[in-house]
Amino acid sequence: MTIRPVRRGELKAVIEIDTLVTGIEKLSYWNSLYRRYADAVATGQHFLVALSGKNVVGFVIGEVRDWEFGSPPCGWVFAIDVRPDFRLAGTATQLLGAICDGFRKAGVSKVRTMLSRDNSLILSFFRSQGMMIGPFIPLEMDLEA
Ligand SMILES: CC(C)(COP(=O)(O)OP(=O)(O)OC[C@H]1O[C@@H](n2cnc3c(N)ncnc32)[C@H](O)[C@@H]1OP(=O)(O)O)[C@@H](O)C(=O)NCCC(=O)NCCS
Repeated sequence: MTIRPVRRGELKAVIEIDTLVTGIEKLSYWNSLYRRYADAVATGQHFLVALSGKNVVGFVIGEVRDWEFGSPPCGWVFAIDVRPDFRLAGTATQLLGAICDGFRKAGVSKVRTMLSRDNSLILSFFRSQGMMIGPFIPLEMDLEA
């Protein structure tokens, strides 16, 4: 398994994995994310893929955010997905390890993420990696038109 920054020609495979997992194809979102993240490692942004041979089998996206929500700089993982037929083989563990290495190099010592309460799979994964409930709580409300 190789973990490295995504290349333009691999975006299609990333979109296919995301569409498979979420059921929604978001072409413009992924193109815009690629433009912002692909070459931005120096600014603490990471868009990494896991490759088995030449095939993309998973990806992770995240970045270092400074003083957001009053927090000292920390790494945020926004998305992590592995192709269903490549799961339970340590791929996501390697992806998370690689992005955390990037965060450490950027000088931060904390990683955070957010997940849906109903997604017990991703919760099991993050718990297995040692992640615990943090000191922040998400708040939301509906906006009237
Ligand atoms: C969660 C996910 C990323 C895990 O990928 P993976 O490559 O299979 O994970 P790993 O093989 O590295 O698993 C590491 C640990 O996570 C936990 N885990 C992973 N899959 C699990 C499952 N199906 N049930 C319970 N625990 C699980 C286990 O503790 C596992 O360690 P173990 O194999 O020693 O028991 C993958 O299942 C996935 O892409 N799911 C959909 C993700 C999603 O919903 N994304 C949208 C929000 S970002």
